[in-house]
Amino acid sequence: MKKGKFIVLEGPDRCGKSTQAKMLYNQLVARGKEVLLTREPGGTPTAERIRQIVLEPGLDVRPLAELLLYEASRAQHTQEKLLPALEEGKTVICERYTMSTCAYQGYGRGIPLETIGVLNQIATQDLKPDLTLVFLMSDKYFTERGEYLFSDRLEQEDLAFRQKMRQGYLEMIERTPNAYLINADKNISDIQARVLQLLEEHRIID
Ligand code: TMP
Repeated sequence: MKKGKFIVLEGPDRCGKSTQAKMLYNQLVARGKEVLLTREPGGTPTAERIRQIVLEPGLDVRPLAELLLYEASRAQHTQEKLLPALEEGKTVICERYTMSTCAYQGYGRGIPLETIGVLNQIATQDLKPDLTLVFLMSDKYFTERGEYLFSDRLEQEDLAFRQKMRQGYLEMIERTPNAYLINADKNISDIQARVLQLLEEHRIID
């Protein structure tokens, strides 16, 4: 039985969610919680191998294969790591989960959301986040932040792709229970304060 809380951090590339995930991890550990910080694609040895394939720049990965690779990573990660940690009562912080697949492969690549919904349900065994925080920033920050970052295969997609995804994230926030938009244009400590406030409101921390 799931005893722990499952927190998912979502958003486009370079939105600052990894920084916030680490800060949140430190905050929760400092409050005495047992915490697992993990990510998708990846999070287990097998899923990290799948991650290498799906993100390799220049590799020919067709949209359907791409979708199935993300779902394969998710199935492995959910069974091997997420469900056991939640059963042990740990608080789990996961960078990206099912919403990323809808945003990138659904809104971005145009694969029907119903198809993705079915695969997500199978891969997750119906595990749903208790809280989803979606970090969205203006596109100018994507370009600025990209100047000093390595680009993986998905980050090389163009502005139109990113705009479709952004719109997708906004629509999903509206229809997903316990999902919130976080303004990622703000400074790091303001963003962190908002994250902690939402955790309090959801009684994940006191
Ligand atoms: P990361 O760089 O944030 O770890 O994410 C890896 C890339 O994979 C990122 O560009 C988003 C993309 N992605 C998908 O396209 N579909 C998915 O289901 C997931 C989890 C990630």
